[in-house]
Amino acid sequence: MTPAPSRNGRGGAAPAFAGSTGSWSQVRARVLSQRPYGEGHLWLDLEAPAGFGVPRAGQFVQLLLRPPSPVLLPRPMSVAAAKGGAAAVTISFLYGPVGTGTQALSRLTRGDEVDMLGPLGRGFPLEAPGTPVLVAGGRGVAPLLFAADALRSAGRRCELFFGARSSAQLCGLEDARRRLTRLGGRLHLATDDGSRGFRGTVVELLDRTAPKLEGPLVLHSCGPHGMLGALARWAQGRGVPAHLAMESVMACGTGVCRGCPMPRSAASMERYRRARGDWPSLLGNAEYAMCCTEGPVFAAEDLDWDRVE
Ligand SMILES: Cc1cc2nc3c(=O)[nH]c(=O)nc-3n(C[C@H](O)[C@H](O)[C@H](O)COP(=O)(O)OP(=O)(O)OC[C@H]3O[C@@H](n4cnc5c(N)ncnc54)[C@H](O)[C@@H]3O)c2cc1C
Ligand code: FES
Repeated sequence: MTPAPSRNGRGGAAPAFAGSTGSWSQVRARVLSQRPYGEGHLWLDLEAPAGFGVPRAGQFVQLLLRPPSPVLLPRPMSVAAAKGGAAAVTISFLYGPVGTGTQALSRLTRGDEVDMLGPLGRGFPLEAPGTPVLVAGGRGVAPLLFAADALRSAGRRCELFFGARSSAQLCGLEDARRRLTRLGGRLHLATDDGSRGFRGTVVELLDRTAPKLEGPLVLHSCGPHGMLGALARWAQGRGVPAHLAMESVMACGTGVCRGCPMPRSAASMERYRRARGDWPSLLGNAEYAMCCTEGPVFAAEDLDWDRVE
């Protein structure tokens, strides 16, 4: 039996700021299954007790391994799928075992337990008007698979642009293709070396394809920061709204440790100045937004892309 969630978040109405310090809980989750997802990645299904909030696409959770664990801090992970039921909530992840924490996570098997804190952060504003264009770089496809499912449930079709350095980094490509076909969306592939799809970056492919898509467009994206910066500049140059899921090394995931700063744009600094004195303290400060509470999904115009690392 999984224990009931302990409600630690600051429940209640969503704050009137572009951020989330809202309702989250910490639960003991159980591994339902863990399987290879291609190109060295894994797909993990966890079961949380009913009452754990069903995340939105783009939100993340903090996974904390049970002792004895080789790592002290939890690891942030985007939600790749979520299903709420009467008795439990199933939450899925697509991840790469890159270091000590994720390698230990990869050794968990059915029935093992892990502590989970969430749902955290601000997700993609999928209700935004326009043709949704999802742009994924490598394993950044994880939250966008979830976004495609959510759009489909809302009766909306999307375009998915999926790029990587080479075909070997297009993790879960066949699954993405199956989902898109089922969902009535279209998949556009790009690889830097031309080993699959268009030869070049996914932003170059978008640039070529955009005139053929039904406008207005609205972009939702996740991938390496270099790719997101290029996409943000492309979108800003054309007045296309873009929402970009960022990553940062994180400790708390809730705005307390101040360890995940993202440089604000001038417009975002101005908004902070105007709200002065009335800015929730778990969001960022005058110069930096916190990735965990004001993000991880940021509007392109809210960050200073020259200073994003
Ligand atoms: C909001 C958010 C969502 C994320 N979603 C996913 C996801 O869906 N799938 C997935 O595979 N990973 C995701 N990550 C990254 C994941 O959290 C890191 O890969 C993980 O923390 C590494 O932990 P580790 O103990 O295995 O590696 P460590 O031993 O801590 O580090 C190993 C290597 O990974 C690098 N690394 C550590 N943290 C990150 C990071 N946040 N981003 C990029 N590189 C990092 C380190 O610099 C080092 O090179 C996400 C991160 C954030 C902040
Ligand atoms: S991770 Fe602690 S403030 Fe963001």
